[in-house]
Amino acid sequence: MKEGFGMNNIRNFQKIKSMDDFDNIDAPVYLEKIMQPNFDKAPKEQMILRMLVRPKYGNWKIPEELMWLEDIIIDCANVDSNITGIADSWCYVTVRRGPVTSVTDDEWHFDGASFRTDIIPERNYIWIDKVGPQYKTGQIDWPKDFDPNKHNLFSFAGNALKDNPILDMKEKSWSLLSPFVFHRRNPITNEMKDRTFIRISFPDIEGRDINNTHNPLLPTPFFGRNPVASFRNNLKDYGK
Ligand SMILES: [Fe+2]
Repeated sequence: MKEGFGMNNIRNFQKIKSMDDFDNIDAPVYLEKIMQPNFDKAPKEQMILRMLVRPKYGNWKIPEELMWLEDIIIDCANVDSNITGIADSWCYVTVRRGPVTSVTDDEWHFDGASFRTDIIPERNYIWIDKVGPQYKTGQIDWPKDFDPNKHNLFSFAGNALKDNPILDMKEKSWSLLSPFVFHRRNPITNEMKDRTFIRISFPDIEGRDINNTHNPLLPTPFFGRNPVASFRNNLKDYGK
């Protein structure tokens, strides 16, 4: 089953994210107006993980290896600021093109759902050539004492939505995922010989993750943080 949201259902991205936002779980928003990628100049294989291409309030720093995506990155930034009314955000690019090797994202999750700081919701624009992520929509009744800094948001949402149908995201289409889209990589992806996944993200805070691919046009950063190991793996399932 393939479905998505119309623009009339779009979130208010200027409001600080709160637990109330997770009462209703979104479908992706399909965006026809962002241009399709042109792979003529793209490398046959490319693995770039959350490379910073524009600091908040900074200029574009798009390195040679991402030049084939330059027009789309800028197009996407314009669409994002039209949708959200937000002009300045960090911009990160992920490209996974070639054989599928990593196994992260196989579990059901929300992107950018951390509550460690009070922030507006991040926006993730994604495009996949085949076998898109799976997602679920629905409503969740969160217990009053549910604390996303102590309890695992993903496992609670997974239980709450366990009987809801698994939907497939559209292929070869740009989709906006708010942090309120519950999704996972389609498990069959791991058996695929090659695949192209592109993600252009606009968070409101710098993603100081030790695993990010370094942008040669920007200074070498100091990263002391591995968010999955330091935070996510320490969360408890609610009620346990
Ligand atoms: Fe994700």
